[in-house]
This record gives sequence, C-alpha cells and structure tokens, in this order.
Amino acid sequence: MYGPKGQSSGAGRPPAAPKKVTVPDIRARKANGPPIAMVTAYDFTMARLLDEGGADMLLVGDSLGMVVQGHPTTLPVTVEEICYHGRAVARGARRAHVVGDMPFMSFQVSPMQALENAGRLMKDGAFESVKLEGGEEIAEHVRRIVAAGIPVCAHIGLTPQSVHAMGGFKVQGKGEENAARLVRDAQALDEAGAYAIVLEAIPPDLAEEITAAVSVPTIGIGAGAGCDGQVLVCYDMLGMYPDLRPRFAKRFSEVGEQIMAATRAYVDEVQARTFPGAEHSFKPNGPRRITPPAEPTAAVLEEIPPHWQTH
Ligand code: KIV
Repeated sequence: MYGPKGQSSGAGRPPAAPKKVTVPDIRARKANGPPIAMVTAYDFTMARLLDEGGADMLLVGDSLGMVVQGHPTTLPVTVEEICYHGRAVARGARRAHVVGDMPFMSFQVSPMQALENAGRLMKDGAFESVKLEGGEEIAEHVRRIVAAGIPVCAHIGLTPQSVHAMGGFKVQGKGEENAARLVRDAQALDEAGAYAIVLEAIPPDLAEEITAAVSVPTIGIGAGAGCDGQVLVCYDMLGMYPDLRPRFAKRFSEVGEQIMAATRAYVDEVQARTFPGAEHSFKPNGPRRITPPAEPTAAVLEEIPPHWQTH
C-alpha cells in the first residue's frame, strides 16, 4: 500500500528511491517555485505517509512537547528527544528533507553551545539540517553552525520557546517598530547563511515585505499566502489536536474523528464477540485425537497419598 514510488530500475529489481529534496533544491524554490510544502512529523509511520503524500520537508518540531508529550509548551523538550524522533522520521522520509528543531536552551547560551548541539542533532538524530528560533541576537550562532557545514533554517515572529516573554501564543510584528525589527532579524539571518526562514504568526503584508527583503525562501505558518512556502503541524493539518486551534491551522482532514469512530466500532465488536471473525483467525487445527491416559503404574500409584487411592 505504501510501497516505494520512484521508477522501476529494471526487471526484478525494486523501484529506485525517489530523489531526495536537498538544501539547494529548497533555495531554488524561491526563484523557480513551486511553493515549499513543509509539515511536522514525529514518527516513522506518519513520516512515510507524509513523504508519500509529497511533502517537501519534514520538520521534527519541538512542538512534539505539546502534541506528542502533552505539555502546555515546547520548553521541556530535550536534544535527546528530538534525536530519538529524528531517527524514526529519517527512516520514513525517502524524498522529503528532514529538519530537526533545536530545543529551548540547546543553543541560546553561546555560538559554541549552538554548534555542539547542532552537531549532535546531525550525528545522533539523522537530520539533514537544523532549525533555530530567534532573530539578530542569534545571527552569530547561525554563522558558526553554517560554517561547520550544517544547514540552518531560521524561525522568527511567534517563537514558541519565548512564550512566557511574549505573554502567550500571540501574533507578532504588529506596529511599525516591531515590523521593522522583524525585517532586520530576517536580513541578519539571511546574511548569517540561513537557507530558509520560517515566519510564524505575523501579518500577511509584513510576511510579503520580509519575503521580498531576503534572498532565501520564507516558509509561513499563520503568515499569509505571500511566503515562498508553508508549514503546518501534522496533527493540526489532520484534525487530531483539539487543544489549540489557531486560526491559521487549516484542518485538511478530520482524522481525529475517524480514529474515535474506528475505536468505537472496535470496542463494540469486541464486546459483541463479532471480532475477530473467521477471516481474521488462523486455519483451525481440526478435531484433535485425544490419546487416552496411560494406566497408572504401580510406582505412580505408590506416590498417590493412600486416602486418595480408590483401589
Ligand atoms: O515546532 C514546530 O512544530 C515548529 C513549526 C510550527 C514551525 O516550529
């Protein structure tokens, strides 16, 4: 069902793997299109489905702290957890480029800390690039990571790791001063060598201005249609995470409803003993020839306590 796509490489041989989406491919989309379709993924099965569906980039976002682990914010997520999920996603991503989020406090301390942890994500997490939240203040961190040959996707606007400083998950870049700061942030990250910039929850006209002001693709989430690509959390896109329903999170399916309905049907059939049916069971053995028990020997009889012996 989820067999490899790609073209057949000849009689009897499995189809060739599809060509991987690379960082240069992603950069080229700014000029040539089509818009980049990025989505988060956290495990092998989902990654394989999203990859087969044609997603260009799979992001192992620290949103996993909320949608996988059930925390109210992304702050508790660790480098080890991102790497664990990254290895699973990498096994399912035949075509899509796989990006790993650098968790809270894994890069903010210094450019060296950022470089060391970016290296851990690449080695232990099987990622092909890393993503960092922040603006001008982390441009030097980005520069150091990029200089080591690790591609960096930047992320500005609503940066969920700063949720407490922002006073909640709120639209950013409102007003002249805030908008100008975000444009400066984007330009600083572009100059530092980021290959793409995620713009989260900012007004669409500001996202267009930033998109025009930088040389690399912008990937929007709640930033309008004028970006060079879009990203969504997979559970939002599939209608599986009811706790937060941001305006921008279009539900392309109601998989959550389908999971609950399927579970109700399963429970009903288990309780009615209509599942499993014959088609879900193995071939019966047929009637068994019961071997009559052997006559007890004198030795056995001797072991039986006398008050149990009837003869
Ligand atoms: O962690 C995440 O999933 C993200 C995306 C929403 C961009 O950063």
